[in-house]
Amino acid sequence: EDGNNERGMGGMGGMMNHGNIPLLAASEGINELSIPPVLERQQGQDFDYEVTAQQGSTEFFKGISTDTYGYNGDLLGPTLKLEKGESVDVKITNDLDEPTTFHWHGLEVPGEIDGGPHGEIQPGDSQIITLEVDQPAATLWYHPHVHGSTAEQVFEGLSGMLLIGEESGSDSELPDEYGVDDIPLIFQDRLFDENKQLNYDRLMNQDGTLGDISIVNGTINPKLTVTKSVMRFRLLNGANARNYTFQLSNGANFTQIASDGGLLDEPVETDTLTLAASERAEILIDFSTMTEEESLAIINDEGTALLPFDLALEDSPADTAKMWTSDEPFLTEQETAMPVSKEIELFGMADMVTINGKKFDMERIDFRQEQGVTEVWEVYNRPDMMGGMIHPFHIHGTQFKIISRDGEEVEPNEQGLKDSVLVEPDERVKLLVTFPEKGVFVFHCHILEHEDNGMMGQIEVY
Ligand code: C2O
Ligand code: CU
Ligand code: CU
Repeated sequence: EDGNNERGMGGMGGMMNHGNIPLLAASEGINELSIPPVLERQQGQDFDYEVTAQQGSTEFFKGISTDTYGYNGDLLGPTLKLEKGESVDVKITNDLDEPTTFHWHGLEVPGEIDGGPHGEIQPGDSQIITLEVDQPAATLWYHPHVHGSTAEQVFEGLSGMLLIGEESGSDSELPDEYGVDDIPLIFQDRLFDENKQLNYDRLMNQDGTLGDISIVNGTINPKLTVTKSVMRFRLLNGANARNYTFQLSNGANFTQIASDGGLLDEPVETDTLTLAASERAEILIDFSTMTEEESLAIINDEGTALLPFDLALEDSPADTAKMWTSDEPFLTEQETAMPVSKEIELFGMADMVTINGKKFDMERIDFRQEQGVTEVWEVYNRPDMMGGMIHPFHIHGTQFKIISRDGEEVEPNEQGLKDSVLVEPDERVKLLVTFPEKGVFVFHCHILEHEDNGMMGQIEVY
């Protein structure tokens, strides 16, 4: 199936698309892509995993140390690998000198441990929380969510991958050797000042901080040596605001296999993939048909090489991993016909952003929904006189399905579970939303500066 999913093209390059600071290929030599380590299980402790937010320094540029934040290290965080059915105790510690939270983006956990704005941990404090995993294999992530400083803390380096693995006994033949043929890729853009320090200025970047330097897994000018014919990449748009449109430099097709919350209904062949801030996709690239002479890279739509590859294939051309198609319809007729019960209107720019005309108030509950009961949310991005801008809309505590965009069925590459959805100006998106757990959850625009500026609301699940 051809899933040409160039969302956001309407505004690309236009004034209102805030993806228009070109990314530079920096001139600092080439570095082997860093792969976040898998977080190791603790032995002999009363918790299984430990995640500590801390200050550090990173050598993005040779010989220069840049102040950064990281989890259990200087920059970004280790990959937390969990499995469906598992229950783990995680000790979260704040070693920063400012409050932070630990938000498990895409994980369906009760509101009290979701790490939203209510979950502040003060400097020096720790807490042990229990994460019970009851959702399909997926590529999720974690990051801070302190109201007013989320954007800056993420920009300084706080983000990590959270992978839910295939249930043991599943017959998936997808590549799953972490760091070998199963590679997490956190795409971000950063702005450095003349001293090569991270230059964060929220007031100057009310619609989202854009950097001119691309980093992948925190590596500047990365390259990846590819040893397997069929590689699985887990792409995360971890940028504060930028939309990425990914392609291969030789124009070849690749296969999207998963959206935010798990495998797609069926795999989708495509040559272009757009991810808004916080969205994920898993893709397979078959390198066996590509030659070593070819200079090959994942590029963005401006042609900037985000991740060049060196081919050093060690295996013989494998069959592309076994594919699937689901016999269940993505949505039943009944689901498609359900009436809208919650309306969300996204509006504004800069610090004038609102949801349903209001800014976030931690003391106000905007909606209520019963645990386990499915409702239809309609999200409308109301344009302004300037046209408006794209908002990536995210809901905590749920993996939803997109019923339609402006009344039309969505592209095959969005026929899977999602927790974030790109909404274009004047677009109306219908979502099928169920919360498996109770508590207070936020929903918001995932342009982090919009979120900090109050483009966020709260739902109580009872
Ligand atoms: Cu990525 Cu409110 O979250
Ligand atoms: Cu989230
Ligand atoms: Cu927004």
